[in-house]
Amino acid sequence: MARRHYAFTTLLVVAVAVACLSSADAKLTVNYYKKTCPSMEKIISEAVTSKQLSNPTTAAGTLRVFFHDCFVSGCDASTLISSNRFNTAERDADINLSLPGDAFDLVIRAKTTLELECPGIVSCSDILALATRDLISMVGGPFYTVRLGRKDSLTSTASSAKGHLPMTNQTMTEIIGVFEKNGFTVQELVALTGAHTIGFSHCKEYVDRLYNYKHGGPKAFDPSMDPRYAKGLQAACAKWKSDPTVATFNDIMTPGKFDNFYFKNLEKGLGLLVTDEALFQDKRTKPIVQLYASNQTAFFNDFSHAMEKLSVFGIKTGRKGEVRRRCDAFNHLST
Ligand SMILES: *[C@@H]1O[C@H](CO)[C@@H](O)[C@H](O)[C@H]1NC(C)=O
Ligand SMILES: *[C@@H]1O[C@H](CO)[C@@H](O)[C@H](O)[C@H]1NC(C)=O
Ligand SMILES: *[C@@H]1O[C@H](CO)[C@@H](O)[C@H](O)[C@H]1NC(C)=O
Repeated sequence: MARRHYAFTTLLVVAVAVACLSSADAKLTVNYYKKTCPSMEKIISEAVTSKQLSNPTTAAGTLRVFFHDCFVSGCDASTLISSNRFNTAERDADINLSLPGDAFDLVIRAKTTLELECPGIVSCSDILALATRDLISMVGGPFYTVRLGRKDSLTSTASSAKGHLPMTNQTMTEIIGVFEKNGFTVQELVALTGAHTIGFSHCKEYVDRLYNYKHGGPKAFDPSMDPRYAKGLQAACAKWKSDPTVATFNDIMTPGKFDNFYFKNLEKGLGLLVTDEALFQDKRTKPIVQLYASNQTAFFNDFSHAMEKLSVFGIKTGRKGEVRRRCDAFNHLST
């Protein structure tokens, strides 16, 4: 009896959560700014183009910031808030994750232009969502629909990030757990990780695979890696302790292009991170890697759907948020 009661309660909670999600979601529309700021898409697209051309890692960086923002308390630009002496903000949850400056710079530039054109109208979370989509398609990826009308968060704390982001030192079971907690399936996990097709990582994230692997000596590397690749990385990361800024691409074949080579590489021992390679080793994810490696259309379709889902995850609407005047500060602190 007690058991049945428990099951009923659980179902109810789930149903309410789904109802809340879809009603907040329903307020988003593709044409949200049509009357209030008709040039917003053009302004964002111009800012995206000029930033990506002047700094080609902007696409990867922005995608990473967007993912970080959405997975921690929803797509609400909480990641864009700067820390101050009263508060360590979400973006500084782990200073060593070092979110890339290009993405912040891009959003702030677009916002500055938008504030001149239509002050107080376009939210920072919408700018980030749209800029991410435009950058992905600019570097060869799929173009998916982004509905608009998100509000920006009223809080941003480093502590909220805890346990919400996948880490490069986690097992596949732990990573699947992080995604499932946010309502994403294993297939969506693999599709979204395909973003590493344009990604890059710092040496410290994978040096354990390169030197003294399993205490086999200074040059011993993870035998699941292609030997020439491993030796190339050993050379690239030789000074990783004195220069922590050194990074390499996750997709060594076509790092600047959004395509399915990331998955093809995994099949050949050309995965960079342990967690990249694990996608091919784990029996839950391997068939999906093989599908995407052999069929880019399947990857693009699934990636688009997963991004549309991610883009509305945990969004704030109405009085749950605000349209920030500056993307890096709450309105009541920025006068
Ligand atoms: C960040 O990196 C520094 C230097 O590599 C290290 O001392 C520190 O423990 C790291 N912090 C975290 C939270 O991993
Ligand atoms: C993974 O790294 C994080 C921070 O860099 C650390 O806090 C955590 O303990 C590590 N987890 C494992 C299993 O090593
Ligand atoms: C690739 O995937 C797409 C989308 O799922 C599908 O329509 C198509 O038939 C697949 N192509 C092949 C060669 O399997």
